[in-house]
Amino acid sequence: MTDLSGRVALVTGGTRGIGLATARALAEAGATVVLTGRDEARAKEAAAAAGAASGLALDVTDAKAVSTLVRGVAKEHGKLDIVVANAGIMEDALLGMIKEDVVDTTLSTNVAGTLHTVQAAARAMMRKKTGAIVVLASIVGEYGSAGQTVYAASKAAVANIARSAAKELGRSGIRVNAVAPGVVETDLTAGLPEDAKADNVARTPLGRLGTPEDVAKVIRFLVSDEASFVTGQVLGVDGGLVL
Ligand SMILES: NC(=O)c1ccc[n+]([C@@H]2O[C@H](COP(=O)([O-])OP(=O)(O)OC[C@H]3O[C@@H](n4cnc5c(N)ncnc54)[C@H](OP(=O)(O)O)[C@@H]3O)[C@@H](O)[C@H]2O)c1
Repeated sequence: MTDLSGRVALVTGGTRGIGLATARALAEAGATVVLTGRDEARAKEAAAAAGAASGLALDVTDAKAVSTLVRGVAKEHGKLDIVVANAGIMEDALLGMIKEDVVDTTLSTNVAGTLHTVQAAARAMMRKKTGAIVVLASIVGEYGSAGQTVYAASKAAVANIARSAAKELGRSGIRVNAVAPGVVETDLTAGLPEDAKADNVARTPLGRLGTPEDVAKVIRFLVSDEASFVTGQVLGVDGGLVL
């Protein structure tokens, strides 16, 4: 079992799905975990369910709020070792039907939100010259997906946030990696038609959809010392779907 005792971790978008499973996995490994979501009551409830130390309100599109919260967590706990920039949204539309506000909200949440979180994390970790950051990319960011042009573009950007930040922060002892999940059963994918889910299962060598825990375990590995020489990677967690 991975040992994260003594580590302080922050998980954005920790109220549900992959973020909640990650907060729980890190807490079970002994980390002191702070999770966030847009609504304070929901975040507190999730923190209690995950065994996290606290649940705080944060909208990752607000750069100043991200910076203030990250600084606050590092101050309260004396340091910040692990940050998982997980908060994200997905809204599907065929190319001709994409609305401008979907472009704006997707890019401001998935791209700018991830960037704000990585920036703030780097600042907080720089002083101690150690830290591990994981961001949430997607297989569609690498391979594209019909009806998901905006989301795919945002996730390609997220993968390159990880690669670029890894190059910049390596000398400061900070590792940055991404996970690229396939189709994972959460609220985000709940609207997928049953035949689309069945088609994904049929094309997946491991013969099933992913669970939030499948992704959480890989994130836990990437932030642990087991992955101490791994940085700038985009690790697929997709049951072989893209093969
Ligand atoms: N599920 C999949 O198949 C899949 C595949 C590839 C990648 N991913 C990525 O994995 C991440 C988690 O996905 P999920 O499936 O677990 O999604 P989910 O169940 O819909 O949960 C999304 C989380 O993000 C938070 N969030 C959304 N917008 C936010 C904002 N502006 N500020 C702060 N928090 C915000 C939500 O919190 P509140 O609503 O409580 O604020 C919630 O905790 C996302 O980045 C997603 O793109 C998922």
